[in-house]
Amino acid sequence: MERDIDQAVKAIVNAGYVIALTGAGISTESGIPDFRSAGGLWAKYNPAEYATIEAFRSDPEKVWRMLFDMVDITVSARYNAGHAALAELEKMDILRCVITQNIDNLHQEAGSENVIEYHGNVSRLECLYCGQDYDKNEFDAVTLIQNRIPPICKKCGEILKPAVILFGELIPEEATVRSLEAARKADAVLVIGTSAVVYPAANIPLVAKQNRAVIIEFNTETTALTNFATDIFIQGMAGQTLPEMVRRLKAAR
Ligand code: APR
Repeated sequence: MERDIDQAVKAIVNAGYVIALTGAGISTESGIPDFRSAGGLWAKYNPAEYATIEAFRSDPEKVWRMLFDMVDITVSARYNAGHAALAELEKMDILRCVITQNIDNLHQEAGSENVIEYHGNVSRLECLYCGQDYDKNEFDAVTLIQNRIPPICKKCGEILKPAVILFGELIPEEATVRSLEAARKADAVLVIGTSAVVYPAANIPLVAKQNRAVIIEFNTETTALTNFATDIFIQGMAGQTLPEMVRRLKAAR
């Protein structure tokens, strides 16, 4: 790992436009299980049954059973050293943006400002029937979570959906445009804690690669991307490897 981090430091020092794509793996050290590792969320809930927009429309209470599990863990999670390292890179004027597939708000809580939420955010709620949207603070989230009662739209009485992207839903237009623009400008992409199997998010490093960006992957294990597009693979826990890289970048300045 040591040599790989030195290689990454060199690539970042020579880069002019560095972006990051993060997945659930950057939040596992905050206590939030990822989806596809052993013991991940999809080991407990079949995504085809619980995580599609059709499943939500046909049986919202059932989908909320999974969502309450996710929200329960997310609401008490705190950002970790990996999130903080990316916020530090932004403050050092090195990192231009974080494109995250995560819905846990931990990048923002760690201080990252330019965060593109590719799969939405669990702290907002939307009504699929009348279009009304809400901030989670407009509800007594603690009681709802404790009693496992899905939130109800105050306008039309239907069950609300968290503003997270379920399978079968489109990526928010603004997130698509901003992340493609960033990928086209990037000459280095930090791909952190993602299995890189869900599109279109997994396409972001490939778009950057077409423009000859260096792909630097941080993961505890190899992924679909590693042998296909990754230039520098840094194996380890992101909560350790990212802060170590930031430490060496500071020393290299
Ligand atoms: N440090 C680095 N990598 C980690 C860590 C860690 N501490 N913990 C787990 N990982 C890696 C795993 O090895 C795996 O490659 O993070 C990756 C997590 O992959 P997934 O569970 O598939 O999560 P993600 O890639 O974010 O999934 C993408 O799929 O289900 C949908 O909408 C959901 O946003 C999600 C999308």
